[in-house]
Amino acid sequence: MPKLPPALPGLPVLGHIPQFVRDRHALLRQGYKMLGPVYSIRLGPKPVAVLIGPEFQQFFFSETDRALRMDTAYEILAATLGKVAFLASKETYQEQRPILHAPFQREKMVRYVQIMQRVVQDWIDCLGSEGEMEISGEIGRLVQRVAGYTLMGEAFQESVGAEFWELYGALGKALNPAIPPNWPIPANLRRERAKQRMAKILAPIIAERRAHPERYDDFLQDFLQTPGRSGEYADDATILGLVRALMFAGHETTAGQAAWTVIEILRSPEYRALVQAELAELMPPHSEIDGNLLRSLEHIYWAVREVERLHPSADILMREADMHLEIGGFDIPKGWLVMVSSAVAHRIPELFPQPERFDPLRFAPGREEDRQHRFAMIGFGGGVHKCTGMNFATNEMMVITALLFSQLEMELITTDTHVQYGLGAVRPSATWVRYRRVA
Ligand code: HEM
Repeated sequence: MPKLPPALPGLPVLGHIPQFVRDRHALLRQGYKMLGPVYSIRLGPKPVAVLIGPEFQQFFFSETDRALRMDTAYEILAATLGKVAFLASKETYQEQRPILHAPFQREKMVRYVQIMQRVVQDWIDCLGSEGEMEISGEIGRLVQRVAGYTLMGEAFQESVGAEFWELYGALGKALNPAIPPNWPIPANLRRERAKQRMAKILAPIIAERRAHPERYDDFLQDFLQTPGRSGEYADDATILGLVRALMFAGHETTAGQAAWTVIEILRSPEYRALVQAELAELMPPHSEIDGNLLRSLEHIYWAVREVERLHPSADILMREADMHLEIGGFDIPKGWLVMVSSAVAHRIPELFPQPERFDPLRFAPGREEDRQHRFAMIGFGGGVHKCTGMNFATNEMMVITALLFSQLEMELITTDTHVQYGLGAVRPSATWVRYRRVA
C-alpha cells in the first residue's frame, strides 16, 4: 500500500479551490503548520503534493525535467502564451534554450542598465515637483516600458508598444483554471484575436530585422540571430511565443517586487535612513548608474533581496510527477501535481527568525541567513530552469529604488497594503504615495 502524504481536509468536489483562490498563502501555511513539510491538497479532482523546506525544494528543482515535468503542470499557460521554452516538452526546451538565454549574456547588461536609468529618469521627470501617485500601477507601467525598449527596441516601443501591451493584457484575462482554454467563451475568443493581432504586428518587424540585422540590438534580435541546439533558427511563431513568454515571466514579477521594495522601505523609517545615507554618499545627483555603482549600493540590494523573501512574486511553482516518487517517507503517485511555495518556505522561523519582519540586514555580513542552504530562498526558482532574468530584474529593481529615493521625498498615504493574487505573479494592492521632488 502506498503511503500518501497527509491530506488537508477540503470540500467534496472542489477540494481546496475556493480557499486557494481566496487566500492561497493562508491555505498553504495552514497545511504546513498542521501536517508538516510534505502534505497534500486537492484542486478539484487533481491531488497536489506540497513540499516545504530547503531539502524538499532541492529535490523539486533537481528532479525537474527528470521525474518531474514542467510543461503539463503549466498547461493553462501554454494555451495562452504558446508551447515554447519552459512551457514546451523538455526536448523542445533543450532545443530553444540557447535562443532563450542569448539576450542575458553578461556583457549585454551594461546597455540594459543604461536603458533602465533613462526610462526611469524620464518617468520621474514627468512627475513634476510634487503630487500623489498610485505606486503599484505606476511601477507596473514603468516596468512595461523598460521591457518594451530592451525586449523589442526603441522603434517598436514607440510605434506599436502601447497596442502590443494592451493585447498582452487580453491574454492574461483569459487565464482561468476553472474553464478549459479552448472553450469559445468571450475571454478565450478575445485571447485568440489578440494573438492573431500580435502576430500581424510582428510579422513585418521580423521581416525587416531579418533583412537588416545590423540595425538592431535587443532581445528580439538575439532570438532571431541565435540558432537552437540543432543549429536551426526559430520560425516566426516560435519567436512570437518566446516574446510572449518573456513578457509574462518578467513583467508582473518585477513590477510586484519593485513596488514592494519602495513600499517596505517607506514603512521602515530606520531602514530608509540607511538607504538615504548610502545614496547621499555613493550616488551624487546625475550619476551614471553602472554595474560598479549598483554593486556598491548594499542596503538597496539587501532590501531587494528581503522583498524576494517576504513578498515573492512567483509565490508557487508547479510540476507534474512523471513517475512514482518517494519523498520524506511518502509516496507520490505518477500524475500528481507537485508544488513548492516561496511564500511559505521563506517564512520558516528556524531559517529566518522573526520571519514576518522586513529586516534586510538579515543578509548583511555576519548574518547572511540566506546562505544556510542553497535552496532556502527560491524566489527565482532553482536548478536548470532557474530564472534567466534574475540579474536583469535585480538591476531594474535597484535602479528604480535608487533613483526614486535619491530624488523624491515620499510618504505613504495608504497604510494597509496587502497581497493581491493573480493567476500569474502576486503583487501589492493599490498603494498611494505623496511625493515631493528634492533633487
Ligand atoms: C522579480 C522578478 C522575477 C521573478 C521573481 C522571477 C521568478 C522566476 C521563477 C521562480 C522562475 C522559475 C519558474 C519555475 O521553476 O517553475 C523563473 C523562470 C524564468 N524567468 Fe523569471 N522572474 C523574474 C524576472 C524575470 C525577467 C525580468 C525575465 C526576462 C526578462 C525573466 C525570465 C525568465 C525565464 C525565461 C524563465 C524560464 C527559465 C528556464 O526555463 O530556463 N524573469 N523566473
